[in-house]
Amino acid sequence: MNYRHAYHAGNHIDVFKHAALVLLLEHLRRKAKPFFVLDTHGGTGLYDLAAPEAERTGEAADGIGRVLAAAPEPDLAPYLDRVRPLVDSGRYPGSPAIAAGLLRDGDRLAVCELHPEDAGALAANFRRDGRVAVHRRDGYEALPALVPPPERRGLVLVDPPYEERDEADRVGRAVAAGWRKWATGIYAVWYPVKADGTGRAILHHLQAAGIDDCLQAEFLRHPPDGLRLAGGGLLVVNPPWQFDQEIGRVGAALARIFGPPASCAVRRPPPPA
Ligand SMILES: C[S@@+](CC[C@H](N)C(=O)[O-])C[C@H]1O[C@@H](n2cnc3c(N)ncnc32)[C@H](O)[C@@H]1O
Repeated sequence: MNYRHAYHAGNHIDVFKHAALVLLLEHLRRKAKPFFVLDTHGGTGLYDLAAPEAERTGEAADGIGRVLAAAPEPDLAPYLDRVRPLVDSGRYPGSPAIAAGLLRDGDRLAVCELHPEDAGALAANFRRDGRVAVHRRDGYEALPALVPPPERRGLVLVDPPYEERDEADRVGRAVAAGWRKWATGIYAVWYPVKADGTGRAILHHLQAAGIDDCLQAEFLRHPPDGLRLAGGGLLVVNPPWQFDQEIGRVGAALARIFGPPASCAVRRPPPPA
């Protein structure tokens, strides 16, 4: 396990993914009934933007730094209003902190992290929040084990490092196994957009399992050309009503901020041939 999110926290990929996460959680908050969130690959939950890792890559400065410095975009407000106070104090929230910030009293968050050091930092960050359970556990194994939740409504975020050659297959199999047990949950699956077809490989598993209510949203800094990371994509199973339009507006706002050739595409994947 070489991947450490501290080098990348707050980059343009996090910005798009976390803006989508806020939109999905805002949908769940519209009903009074409690919801459950499972974050299968949590990282540490909170990142120091002055740490050597962040300084070394400069990715946060080129990501959230640029977005906060740009002219205000109303469609980014739900996300930016949540992260701005932390960024002003030199930190960037990871997905567990963003989700925890949107939980109400009866809602729950379970977060898995396998890296021993990151899992320790994650547990320390949430030790005072009784709504958050941190598991030092394999997220792929935890996903089908922790669903369906008693709340019967909620979201699973799957955001792996894609370090292993078979990781897209592991993601696809774990989401399909979770969906077979909990077909009404929302699943948001992040994947890197390169010319290697990772998103297609995951989608293949989902469609083979019979999942047909799925949306695909990608934000790219440049067109995919070879193995260079062009941007990030999300496959969202059971997307809430009008989420397609909302995430499209978020992506369009980010494309304006980052400028050409940045682009966003939102589509319903065609059924398997
Ligand atoms: C992309 S980062 C997660 C970032 C986080 N979701 C966020 O948005 O702030 C992926 C994390 O997954 C962890 N990880 C790798 N393999 C794992 C596994 N099988 N189960 C759980 N966590 C894993 C890595 O240590 C890393 O911290």
